[in-house]
Amino acid sequence: MKEVVNKMDLEEFGFLKLSIPPDTDIKSEIERLRKEKNVVILAHFYQSGDIQDIADHVGDSLALAQAAESTTADIILFSGVHFMAETAKILNPDKKVLLPDLKAGCSLAESCDPAQFRKFVEAHPDHTVISYINTTAEIKALTDIICTSSNALHIINSIPADEKIIFAPDRNLGNYLKSQTGRDMLVWDGACHVHEEFSLEKILEIKEMHPDAKIIAHPECERPLLLVADHIGSTSSLLNFTKKDPGKKYIVATEAGILHQMRKFNSDKLFIPAPPKDSTCACNDCNFMKLNSMEKIYNALRYEMPELTMDSMLIEKSLKPIKRMLEISAKFGL
Ligand code: 13P
Ligand code: SF4
Repeated sequence: MKEVVNKMDLEEFGFLKLSIPPDTDIKSEIERLRKEKNVVILAHFYQSGDIQDIADHVGDSLALAQAAESTTADIILFSGVHFMAETAKILNPDKKVLLPDLKAGCSLAESCDPAQFRKFVEAHPDHTVISYINTTAEIKALTDIICTSSNALHIINSIPADEKIIFAPDRNLGNYLKSQTGRDMLVWDGACHVHEEFSLEKILEIKEMHPDAKIIAHPECERPLLLVADHIGSTSSLLNFTKKDPGKKYIVATEAGILHQMRKFNSDKLFIPAPPKDSTCACNDCNFMKLNSMEKIYNALRYEMPELTMDSMLIEKSLKPIKRMLEISAKFGL
């Protein structure tokens, strides 16, 4: 029997606070509900292993945006963070998009205030605005082309070489792209709290103990760490590297959820999560990503809540730069 839903819970907690009988087989119930309601479950690599294992698509931000664009499901359940579910909604304004916990935000997206960003863009009218997908829809609406860490180099190289660029919001990714392309680029001063928390000192200590280990890092990490990395790339690029590389040990400098896929595909290799500066916290787990759980997914499927809703004008304005990203990515076979 269904419990009475208190919608106030959504405002207060971000999810439905409903108890689940202890004998419930949550995994099979999710399976039953997703078929019954024609739901596609999209999960980012930073989700916990149990969620990754029940998803229809597990991937990085680009792959999940592509999966959202092409889905024929009636409902999209996005197990990731708010900007990812928002992108799915922008691409599918007529579909119901569920986010198991509405408080699953992103410190990087929050580091770019729309009013300040508008002023910045207006002050540089001769610049093409490229924004990372880790932004709110308001920022996307002020952007010419969206990118992810998988396609950022292709997106930048697809625009004329003399075109000046504004890149937002990640300073580490932006400066990395600037160094790789040599482009005239103004970089917004935002950052992700997870990727700036890795300790280079502790990573180098691990490297001393395992000299054969390769350091692999997401470009949201700080420059000194990127300078010692053997491979830099998006979550899918890091995963692919570990599949193809003949090495046996890796120190992984990105959110720890990706290790689930790495270990699944490479049972004979050792993956060491890069430690954070503060050893008393589990800072290499994104607290926002890890708000999602199997229980919350189950309740979200049962009650079709929390639903992500958006203003139609904002959807219209933010769709254009996302579509441009998807078109350019398709041209490059990404
Ligand atoms: P990816 O583009 O690799 O999925 O990265 C997303 C993200 O949130 C990184 O912190
Ligand atoms: Fe945002 Fe960082 Fe979490 Fe990625 S890891 S979702 S950039 S806070």
